[in-house]
Amino acid sequence: MRYLVFGATGNVGSRVAQRLINSGARPSVFVRSAKRAKALFDDQVDIHVGDLDNPGSSLAKALADVDGIFLVTDGPDLEEHDRVVSFAARRAGVSHVVKLSTLDVRTGIGTGPWHARGEDAIRESGVAFTFIRSAGFMSNALSWTQSIRGEGMVRSSTGVGKIAFIHPDDIAAVATVSLMTRDYDGQAPVITGPEALSYGEMAAAIGRAIGNPVRFEEVTDAQAYARTAEWAGEGAYADALVDIWRAVRESRLDTVTDDVKQITGREPISFNQWAAENASSFQ
Ligand SMILES: NC(=O)c1ccc[n+]([C@@H]2O[C@H](COP(=O)([O-])OP(=O)(O)OC[C@H]3O[C@@H](n4cnc5c(N)ncnc54)[C@H](OP(=O)(O)O)[C@@H]3O)[C@@H](O)[C@H]2O)c1
Repeated sequence: MRYLVFGATGNVGSRVAQRLINSGARPSVFVRSAKRAKALFDDQVDIHVGDLDNPGSSLAKALADVDGIFLVTDGPDLEEHDRVVSFAARRAGVSHVVKLSTLDVRTGIGTGPWHARGEDAIRESGVAFTFIRSAGFMSNALSWTQSIRGEGMVRSSTGVGKIAFIHPDDIAAVATVSLMTRDYDGQAPVITGPEALSYGEMAAAIGRAIGNPVRFEEVTDAQAYARTAEWAGEGAYADALVDIWRAVRESRLDTVTDDVKQITGREPISFNQWAAENASSFQ
């Protein structure tokens, strides 16, 4: 079987490509930078350079003789990329698209509506699909590095609300099983970490991992928006993040499922383990 991975230089896509390599496959990757792909995978993948904003003939070339795709797209207009890839995949005879989506497709919160439109576009293309509806990523906590390093502090508008963040390796494991077995065609598994935790509890877990206490301080939605706009810019992205944090605060995002275990055969990775693996980022 031939696989093509989008987002292979990113958080989840790189792990999917690596898992495919580890299973003995030689995946292709569709990347904007051959240099970054080469640094990650050396000569274990076939590299296709292209940009989904302006794919030209690069997409059709990358899709030739491919059986399954792992697709990562992002941003308020991700539907357009999902449409372009899935329709081109159908034309090229690709039989299966696994899309990284979000649990919030069900709740309509944050980026949920973006991914709902993306899922619809893929359904319209007629290609077989699996939508991986993921909870928030444990790696989002890397955005706390500066305040933890500088002040031993995590600030957020989530209050005591909880969310079951998932380890990116678990997302990649579910995606890879879906690609390789085809057992989840037409399905949209909702995947989460093993337990819902408040941001204060996650801050404390990082504190234990680094051997220094980390405190939690609640901020208002307006403060959270202002701080986010500093790095993400004003607009849809910052709005989506503040929406998600409000939903956490109001206990609308504390879903825990056992789909990771059902699909991979093992328990999802704990936040304590993620914190231990990433302790050096916070020191
Ligand atoms: N964070 C969360 O809590 C969460 C929860 C649920 C779902 N999600 C979803 O997960 C996805 C993000 O996954 P991630 O964290 O793995 O992403 P990521 O680390 O930001 O990586 C994004 C990847 O997409 C590539 N890319 C970006 N624009 C491209 C373009 N125009 N053409 C081709 N490739 C392009 C990037 O390539 P370069 O290396 O060239 O930039 C990179 O490889 C989003 O759809 C998000 O909504 C996130």
